[in-house]
Amino acid sequence: MEEKIIDENKQGEALVLEATNGNTRKLFIESYGCQMNFSDSEIVASILAKQGYNTTKILEEADLVLVNTCSIRDKAEQTVRKRLEKYNAVKRTNPKMKVGVLGCMAERLKSKFLEEEKIVDMVVGPDAYKDLPNLLEEVEAGRDAVNVILSKEETYGDIAPVRLGGYGVTAFVSITRGCDNMCTFCVVPFTRGRERSRDPQSILTEVNDLAEKGYMEITLLGQNVDSYLWYGGGLKKDFKNASEIQKATATNFAQLLDMVATAQPHMRIRFSTSNPQDMTEDVLHSMAKHKNICNYIHLPVQSGSTRILKEMNRQHTREEYIALINKIWEIIPDCAISQDIITGFPTETEQDHRETLSLMEYVKYDFGFMFMYSERPGTTAARKLEDDIPLDVKKRRLTEIVDLQLMHSAYRTKKFVGKTLEVLIEKESKKSDQHWSGRTQYNTVAVFPKENYKVGDLVMVKVEDCTSATLLGVAVDYAE
Ligand code: 5AD
Ligand code: SF4
Repeated sequence: MEEKIIDENKQGEALVLEATNGNTRKLFIESYGCQMNFSDSEIVASILAKQGYNTTKILEEADLVLVNTCSIRDKAEQTVRKRLEKYNAVKRTNPKMKVGVLGCMAERLKSKFLEEEKIVDMVVGPDAYKDLPNLLEEVEAGRDAVNVILSKEETYGDIAPVRLGGYGVTAFVSITRGCDNMCTFCVVPFTRGRERSRDPQSILTEVNDLAEKGYMEITLLGQNVDSYLWYGGGLKKDFKNASEIQKATATNFAQLLDMVATAQPHMRIRFSTSNPQDMTEDVLHSMAKHKNICNYIHLPVQSGSTRILKEMNRQHTREEYIALINKIWEIIPDCAISQDIITGFPTETEQDHRETLSLMEYVKYDFGFMFMYSERPGTTAARKLEDDIPLDVKKRRLTEIVDLQLMHSAYRTKKFVGKTLEVLIEKESKKSDQHWSGRTQYNTVAVFPKENYKVGDLVMVKVEDCTSATLLGVAVDYAE
C-alpha cells in the first residue's frame, strides 16, 4: 500500500474531461493531482477553445493531448510517466498527434522533460497557459516549445473556464494561486510559485454566472484559502509595502466568504484547502453566519507531534491545532473536519507516531487523506534531512493511521442515521441506476431512490442506514 485515501473524491485518479462546442480540432486533456489542477484544465480548455479546439474523451482521435501533472509525491510522477507510454503507443497509429505536459511536473522538470520523454512536444508551467496559442504555433512548425515562467500577477481571473466536470451542479472557482508557507516536505512553492490572490469582483462575476447557469454549489479553491488577500493585485508577501488606502480597502478570506455567500444565498459554498496557522476566527464566524456555507473544513495537520510539526515548518504546535479545533466546535458545533497526514517524515519516532494517533482520537475526523512521506527534490526536507524511516515502518504506521481513520469515518457516518439532512443531488449512484447520489453539507455521500427528483435538486433525505462512508435513505417532503 503506497498511499490510501478514504473519501469519495478519489484523489490521484485521472479525470478525463470533455465539453463540446462548434470547433473541429480535438483536444484530449487529462488531469492528475489536486482540485486546482482540474480547475486549471478548465482554464486551458477555455484558452484552446478560442484556438479551434473541442475536447474529446477518445484519446485515439485527438490532435492534441495534454496531461496536467502533479509532483506532490514520487508516485504521482510515476503515474504520469506511465501515461506517456500509453500516448506513445497511440502516436504510432496517429503520428500527427501532439503531446503537451502541463502543471507541476512541467514546472519542476522544465526542458529536461523534452530530453527524458521523447513523446513530449511541449512543456507548460501553471502560470504560462495564456502562452499556449504561441507555443502551439511553435509545435505546429515542428519545434519543441517550453514556457515555465512563474508569475507575480497571473490569476486567470479574466478567463471564463469551460466547465468540464461537475454535471452542471458543482463547480470549482479558484481564488488564490501559489503558496508561501514553505512546509519543508512540499514541492508546491517551487511548482506553483508565490502566493497571489484573485480580484474579488472577478470571483463574484464567475460565481454569479455559475448561479445563472443553474449551478448549485461552488468550491472556492486555493493551496491556502485562509491567506486570501486582495489589495489590488501582486504577491501576498508584498502586501507590507502596499499603500495605506490599499491596506484599508483590502479583502481577506472571511470577507470574501461573506461577499460570495451574501451574493448567492441559494448556492452552497465550500472552500479548500485551509491551513491551521492562517485560519482566523473571522472565517469561522462567516461560516456560522451564512447557512449556505457548508459546515465542513478540510484542515490538514500532517502530524500530531509538535517536534515533527516544527521540522515540517508548519508554524503551529499540536496544542495550537487542538485549540483551533475547539474553536471550530465552539462556533460551529456540527462542523465536519477532515485531515491530511504524512507518516514517516524524517526522524519520526514511535512516540511521534503515537501522538498523531492520539490527536486523531481527539478530533475523530470525518474523512482523511493519508500518505507516506515521499522525498521531493529541492525541498528543505530533502536538502537538510535524511529520509531515514524504513519503508516497512512507514507502511506499518500508515496502516495504523488508515485503520483508525476508517473507524472514525464509520463513527461519524453512523451518527447521521435517523437524522434528516439536506442533500444536493449530483449524479446517478454508481451502484444503482434507480438511486441518486449526492452530498450533505458535511461532504458525506448520501444515496436514495430517485423518485421524481432530478440532478441539481436540494432534497431533504431521511437517513435510515449507512455503510462505512455512505448514507442510505429516502427523500422526505419536510425536515423533521
Ligand atoms: N510526501 C507525502 N505527502 C505529501 N504531501 C505533500 N507533500 C508530500 C510529500 N512530500 C501531502 C500533504 C498535503 C497533501 C496535499 O499531500 O499531506 O497536505
Ligand atoms: Fe500536485 Fe500540489 Fe501541484 Fe496540486 S499543487 S498538482 S497537489 S503538486
